[in-house]
Amino acid sequence: MATAADIAAMRRAIELAARGLGATSPNPVVGCVIAGPDGAVVGEGCHQRAGGPHAEVHALRAAGERARGGTAYVTLEPCNHTGRTGPCAQALIDAGVRRVVYAVADPNRQAAGGADTLRTAGVEVASGLLEDEAAAGNAAWLTAVRLGRPHVTWKYAASLDGRIAAQDGTSRWITSAESRADVHRLRALADAVIVGSGTARADDPHLAVRTAAGAGAAPVQPLRVVVDTEATAVRPGARVLDDAAPTLIAVAEDAGGEPPAGADVVRLPRADRGLSVPALLRALYERDIRSVLLEGGATLAGSFLAAGAVDRVVGYLAPVLLGAGPAALADPSIATIAEAARLDITETVRIGPDLRITATPATTKER
Ligand SMILES: NC(=O)c1ccc[n+]([C@@H]2O[C@H](COP(=O)([O-])OP(=O)(O)OC[C@H]3O[C@@H](n4cnc5c(N)ncnc54)[C@H](OP(=O)(O)O)[C@@H]3O)[C@@H](O)[C@H]2O)c1
Repeated sequence: MATAADIAAMRRAIELAARGLGATSPNPVVGCVIAGPDGAVVGEGCHQRAGGPHAEVHALRAAGERARGGTAYVTLEPCNHTGRTGPCAQALIDAGVRRVVYAVADPNRQAAGGADTLRTAGVEVASGLLEDEAAAGNAAWLTAVRLGRPHVTWKYAASLDGRIAAQDGTSRWITSAESRADVHRLRALADAVIVGSGTARADDPHLAVRTAAGAGAAPVQPLRVVVDTEATAVRPGARVLDDAAPTLIAVAEDAGGEPPAGADVVRLPRADRGLSVPALLRALYERDIRSVLLEGGATLAGSFLAAGAVDRVVGYLAPVLLGAGPAALADPSIATIAEAARLDITETVRIGPDLRITATPATTKER
């Protein structure tokens, strides 16, 4: 049975893991807490970036000799393979840790087996402590491993009557400065930010993460992606082409236009409308992208939904009415109420004068 101290240590490990969000792909976020034989915390660590030491290594370094005879709490099963760093299971054994408690089993066949290695070496192993909480913290990476494509969060900002622009196409700014700052936080957590050619034309968006002066270490900038079938929407001088972050323009294999210099280009097959969404996501996965923030517009978001490629929706609703103008989502595949995409709301938060609603695809179809 898990003690209160076990739960507190694992909750702290989950907190530590979250510090790596947006910086560890293609690896998961992982946190680790080490308690000495008397139960006092003697080391903490998290996986900070791909290629860097794993959480267990940071925590073991901090603990030093005090780890001997102690317990390691890890949010993910310690790895068993030698990649860019050595296997963590062996590092825990070498440090003389007596017991390892982990939250989520490693679904990655290449890295799994750490628990068996630990047990074979005589280490006591327990799994599943705060599993749901730890899995939620790693949702993007776990989805990506399971589906072989990045986890997709579709974000939009709308009036209370569900419009994302006014009738004349103007859309700056429906939501408040606080909501827009919150979007920068979401961007910083994602490996890539995507918009369609319609949004690129209408808004000339910048899509990089803006940080407040004195906000500490600069965030890892996401890859900016514009889905521009004919290679005509992103023109030289577009804000997305500056050097604030890398940029990828996805165009058709037979695109008529010529993408501008200053961006990487990927050529993809066409679909009924625009480019193939699965092919786009595959191309991003191959570039080590595990989490994506889809920032619209409505047409591209509709194609993602129709392709079954929306894993989370974050809507910012402003106390504004627009009456006319485009709706947040254009999905021609939904013709009748029985085909509606049902969601479960997982969070509602007041952001300044606005409301942020987070939802995920419903686990049950019945209402
Ligand atoms: N408030 C908000 O949250 C928000 C966010 C974003 C945008 N907006 C507003 O939304 C408007 C733009 O939205 P939009 O719907 O016109 O454009 P969009 O969704 O940004 O882009 C749609 C275009 O992307 C291209 N595309 C390529 N592959 C596609 C695919 N598989 N599925 C769908 N489209 C694909 C198509 O053009 P090609 O094939 O010709 O390339 C398509 O017309 C602007 O007014 C903008 O201000 C608001």
